[in-house]
Amino acid sequence: MHWKVPCPENARNWTSNPDRTTLETVLHLTIPTHIAEITPYPPGKPLEELEREYGIRDSIKLASNENSWGPSPLALQALSAALTDLHRYPDGSSYYLVTALADKLGVGAGQIVLGNGSNEVIEFLVKAFVQEGDEVITSHPSFLMYQKFVQVRGGVNHVVALKELGHDLAGIAKKITQRTKLIFLDNPNNPTGTAIDPGTLRDFIDAVPNGVVVVLDEAYVDFMDPALRPDPAEYLSAKRVGCPVVFLRTFSKAYGLAGLRIGYGVMVEELASTLHKVRQPFNVNRLAQVGALAALDDTNHYRTTLAGTREGMEFLHREVGRLGCRCFPSQANFFLIDVGGEADLLYQEMLTRGVIVRAMRAYGFPHFIRITVGTKIENRRFIEALSLSLRTLGYV
Ligand SMILES: Cc1ncc(COP(=O)(O)O)c(C=O)c1O
Repeated sequence: MHWKVPCPENARNWTSNPDRTTLETVLHLTIPTHIAEITPYPPGKPLEELEREYGIRDSIKLASNENSWGPSPLALQALSAALTDLHRYPDGSSYYLVTALADKLGVGAGQIVLGNGSNEVIEFLVKAFVQEGDEVITSHPSFLMYQKFVQVRGGVNHVVALKELGHDLAGIAKKITQRTKLIFLDNPNNPTGTAIDPGTLRDFIDAVPNGVVVVLDEAYVDFMDPALRPDPAEYLSAKRVGCPVVFLRTFSKAYGLAGLRIGYGVMVEELASTLHKVRQPFNVNRLAQVGALAALDDTNHYRTTLAGTREGMEFLHREVGRLGCRCFPSQANFFLIDVGGEADLLYQEMLTRGVIVRAMRAYGFPHFIRITVGTKIENRRFIEALSLSLRTLGYV
């Protein structure tokens, strides 16, 4: 039977930009103001879409900080072997993956919470701790999803501008009130790639009052200089006094499994038990568990990714500098470039040459693009396209 559902003419616009009048008059639904006000997350343009729109092939995407070396081959093998079990629900406790992660990190299995991407663990934190009117502190710019989850809960976002492209910890400390529940720090920061000095971070966290959870989002930790990485053991001991700290990690970047959607949080056990209360029983699918477990052991792929990123970063900084643009140092697998003119126009120009980057206007940097380090071939393609686009626009 076919149901005719009343739907506005432009369903695509309607879903991405809810029109209250239509909702109310056609569908007879009301939408809370805090939901109506949310602007959907702008994902990087998919390659398939670019090729369809421009009628081109062999385009490259350096826009979403994915792993340019592809998924871990060991994960691929394990995934194909697991396909025959897809008629079964996954293990809701993700026993094998959680145990392997706990061993690797030297923490208890009860301290790990897995998510459908680390994004979902961010959502759990907000769901568990933020009620209407509660406050959350984030930096601007930083990973956009923190603020969106807070908006969904009717919470209040206090946003502190970055200072010298890094988190302004003193500014953040000043924003803490009795209603502050969470502080999100992406370390390294997305989109700038800056990392917080570990000593400065320790002093900051030690001064955060009880009642607040500090979340260190370490999506790019694998690319960081080891000397800059905070030591989870220092913050996760059950004996530690002071505010709880949550470490967020993901398989989307160094492990090359962004499409599988799997990430995790590490925290004290009491906090983890609380997050388990707000998750769905099978939030991490069977393939994600199997793929991530195999990727953890794939040291070859992991090392290739890190070495390739380092080499690519040096190459790109050198070549972009030669083209007359300023590059910013980064502790991640991406970095910012000041293109010396409107980055939106340069983005469009690069698209026509089959290269997708991120224009940074939405993040407050209208003259910047952010690019992910690619393979050697991709990096050369990028430099060629950048050089031609800069000349076409007369930026250098
Ligand atoms: C800082 C930061 N945190 C979290 C995420 C989300 O990662 P995941 O794919 O694990 O949801 C991203 C993704 O780009 C990110 O940049």
